[in-house]
Amino acid sequence: MLASELRANQAMGLYSINTQQRVRVVTVTSGKGGVGKTSISTNLAVALANSGQKVLLLDADMGLANVDVLLGLNARYNLSHVMDGSRALADIIVEGPAGIRVIPASSGVQAMANLSQTGHVGLINAFSELSFHPDILLVDTAAGISTDVVTYARASHEVIVVVCDEPASITDAYATIKVLNRDHGIYRFRVLANMVRSSQEGMDLYRKLLLVTDRFLDVTLDYMGAIPFDEYLRKSIQRQRAVVDLYPRSKAAMAFQKAVSRVRQWPQPEAARGCIEFFVESLFNSEAAAEVGAGG
Ligand SMILES: Nc1ncnc2c1ncn2[C@@H]1O[C@H](COP(=O)(O)OP(=O)(O)OP(=O)(O)O)[C@@H](O)[C@H]1O
Ligand SMILES: [Mg+2]
Repeated sequence: MLASELRANQAMGLYSINTQQRVRVVTVTSGKGGVGKTSISTNLAVALANSGQKVLLLDADMGLANVDVLLGLNARYNLSHVMDGSRALADIIVEGPAGIRVIPASSGVQAMANLSQTGHVGLINAFSELSFHPDILLVDTAAGISTDVVTYARASHEVIVVVCDEPASITDAYATIKVLNRDHGIYRFRVLANMVRSSQEGMDLYRKLLLVTDRFLDVTLDYMGAIPFDEYLRKSIQRQRAVVDLYPRSKAAMAFQKAVSRVRQWPQPEAARGCIEFFVESLFNSEAAAEVGAGG
């Protein structure tokens, strides 16, 4: 439905779609908080950029200690300033290490859904006209399974579920996958284990999750690998740097490099769903709001 709406709007001349430029949209989620979503989003972003990809990182968590803090960036404005017309999109985007671009979101998707039709078109055009054309758009989300998380996941091509070795992490990851699958039709998930003490532990975590999803859901879970527990990652956070930059030989950094090679093997999004306009337009679809509570 969205793809056809997008084409209809385009046909009416409301905005142009840059079909040349395909972007892979990846949402990072976990259910449980504090398992490493932001550390993973930022380091994956920088490692992907180091591998030659153009990376846009959307900080969709309105809480504290986010992407800008982890990377020591000075983000003065956010997407709400673009929506109220006080800033241009290009003005709120900050440049991070390895040339990644960061969009501080700091306003829920509801605010976007509430924009007028002109506002929607304006925002789509703003993304469409950016001079920076990303190959990949990573979305770092807040903990839990809020409307925002659902909306970003629905608008993405890939969903990474971060898990660590705590019972609550597995149950919350399962609950997230269940809601996204049963209520929102998402069927493929990439599982990334974090803070593991051995590679076996990562695989075991994946298997635990697979056992329950295979039994109760119709989903494909792909193992994306594991990021070891690494003091160098903590040190890098204290210094507001990416571990892949500051300690490139650390275990965590090498694991991020491995994860990058997996991401680069993922299938390309289909043309109709692969433009940034499609992503932005998908965020206006507030159906997710009504459905998120109904999962059970
Ligand atoms: N691989 C790792 N090795 C060591 N420590 C880690 C690792 N990953 C994350 N941490 C620690 O866990 C803390 C929480 O990580 P992070 O902020 O990335 O989690 P989050 O899932 O984004 O949290 P929130 O749900 O609050 O957004 C970090 O500050 C860091 O100290
Ligand atoms: Mg976070």
